[in-house]
Amino acid sequence: MAPPSANSGDAAAAPGEKNKLSPSGLPIREIPGGYGVPFFSPLRDRLDYFYFQGAEEYFRSRIARHGGATVLRVNMPPGPFISGDSRVVAVLDARSFRVLLDDSAVDKADTLDGTYMPSLALFGGHRPLAFLDAGDPRHAKIKRVVIGLAAARMHHVAPAFRAAFAAMFDTVESGLDASGAVEFNKLNMRYMLDFTCAALFGGTPPSKAMGHAAVTKAVKWLLFQLHPIASKVVKPWPLEDLLFHTFRLPLFLVRRDYADLTAYFADAAAAVLDDAERNHPSIPRDELLHNLVFVAIFNAFGGFKIFLPHLVKWLARAGPELHAKLADEVRATVPAGVEITVTSVDRMPLVKSVVWEVLRMNPPVEFQYGHARRDIIIESHDAAYEVRKGEMVFGYQPLATRDEPRV
Ligand code: HEM
Repeated sequence: MAPPSANSGDAAAAPGEKNKLSPSGLPIREIPGGYGVPFFSPLRDRLDYFYFQGAEEYFRSRIARHGGATVLRVNMPPGPFISGDSRVVAVLDARSFRVLLDDSAVDKADTLDGTYMPSLALFGGHRPLAFLDAGDPRHAKIKRVVIGLAAARMHHVAPAFRAAFAAMFDTVESGLDASGAVEFNKLNMRYMLDFTCAALFGGTPPSKAMGHAAVTKAVKWLLFQLHPIASKVVKPWPLEDLLFHTFRLPLFLVRRDYADLTAYFADAAAAVLDDAERNHPSIPRDELLHNLVFVAIFNAFGGFKIFLPHLVKWLARAGPELHAKLADEVRATVPAGVEITVTSVDRMPLVKSVVWEVLRMNPPVEFQYGHARRDIIIESHDAAYEVRKGEMVFGYQPLATRDEPRV
């Protein structure tokens, strides 16, 4: 069923609704906010979101406009002409956000990137795991292989990280010696790709197999999927808005790069594919190969590429006292000369707490989406809201995890 398209009022209870209560006794209210004039309002909201306000202010200003309500009807970019429908119910506090973690309440098919779905041609014609709903039988099958792979490679994570980042810091040092300045985020991207591929599959890292072009190809492929929701990449902003947010970039421009990446993974992941062919014959080898490319580059590389700079940022801001305490904890847990492992990190409460805290302050995946599977009631801290079957629910995780007064 289509959601209402006009502003449906503020956070106060509508007449006749005063006595309706949610299962835990909260008053059920009409969802405040609205979608405005079709076509024009989604366009205007997109400019607010990317350029005039920024994501956080976009939501905070609307929360303030509706009396502090943190469940709101808003448009989400990119809007016309890429999104068929920009209308979402946004959940912007820790309590209401939980609905997006409830598989029985939301259907996640094709919602990974939000209100648009990238072309399947970007994935060899297959729909990768992260675009499948948990109820889809292919989801469980492919996920079993991915989780099995992650578990089997657990002991390779720390050594792969050490190797990739020792090489990165050597490059940082020689860059500082030569020119006095290095760009951490750029180097992080390059070595992070080596780390994720070595951790997952072992073998020759992409930078050795394909040279520096490896990371360029990976980032280009990500951009062709994510350009409708990317910003601050091209200047001036009106050009970026036209190039990235209005039409889909033509796929022939990235076909070659994706073919090269797939060829690399067909080789690097050959043992995983052979094993899966034996133990999970219902998943075609080609479908699994494209899934492994997606897991390695989108899920793993994409996640860590965003996360590590935030970790370094918060560590730098925290200052030498925290650095000294972290160093003491690591040295007390792992004797000098002994390899750090995932198991030993589990015995480092301060290290783990720093990582959790950075994930809380800057969740690398900021957006979560899902269609309501049925009519549902979403509870926030002091009110509840009815969402109809089929409506898109959207969560902006940084507001949910920094919901300071309530969490
Ligand atoms: C900092 C690193 C990472 C972060 C922040 C992160 C975050 C997330 C989030 C938030 C989702 C859910 C997306 C949604 O449903 O809307 C997700 C899904 C997924 N992630 Fe990660 N991830 C990270 C690293 C990894 C790694 C290393 C792997 C693989 C080894 C991985 C594999 C997956 C897979 C397969 C899914 C889809 C799961 C499903 O649909 O059931 N991720 N990730």
